[in-house]
Amino acid sequence: MRTYALIASALFVACGAWAAVAKDAERTPDVIYVPTPQEVVEDMLRLVNVKRGDVLYDLGSGDGRIPVTAARLYGIRAVGIDIDPERIREAKANARKNGVAKLVEFRQQDLFKSDFREATVVTLYLLPDLNTKLYPQLMEQLKPGTRVVSHQFDMGTWRPDKRLDSHGRTVYFWVIPEAKRSR
Ligand SMILES: C[S@@+](CC[C@H](N)C(=O)[O-])C[C@H]1O[C@@H](n2cnc3c(N)ncnc32)[C@H](O)[C@@H]1O
Repeated sequence: MRTYALIASALFVACGAWAAVAKDAERTPDVIYVPTPQEVVEDMLRLVNVKRGDVLYDLGSGDGRIPVTAARLYGIRAVGIDIDPERIREAKANARKNGVAKLVEFRQQDLFKSDFREATVVTLYLLPDLNTKLYPQLMEQLKPGTRVVSHQFDMGTWRPDKRLDSHGRTVYFWVIPEAKRSR
């Protein structure tokens, strides 16, 4: 009888933990889905000078076009994180259609709770306040030398190392410094 009670309480705790994770991953997105134009995606990847061995993370990956393009054009491994399950489905289909499903992975997660420590390149198309909110996490998780590129929005007081005009859009580029800054 005691064993049954123990199993029942373990199941109860596990279900509670699972429900909390599922609920978290399904909260309303912080920004709606608007894709980066393909020619801007390709300029972003040129600007960060993608090379063999890089691992790219797109935080808020939409239909997966940035990770898919990185894998297709440069043969690198790439990860997309998006909170919206519909976007994750589209992104996986996109990777399959482009023959890069083995190089690209999509995770349904809240980017603010995600682990992107292994990234050597991070791409963003969020909003100014979301970039600012993400800044401490970028500094905490990323190794010095990691390149960060953002379509359209800067990062408050963190001055970009480069800025590019791309097909009427602005692209910002930073390198995580040796001496990490806190605000
Ligand atoms: C403006 S779109 C950019 C899509 C893609 N990166 C691109 O440039 O084409 C922003 C994406 O972020 C996702 N998103 C919003 N809030 C999020 C969060 N907290 N965690 C993960 N993804 C999120 C949205 O679902 C949307 O797909």
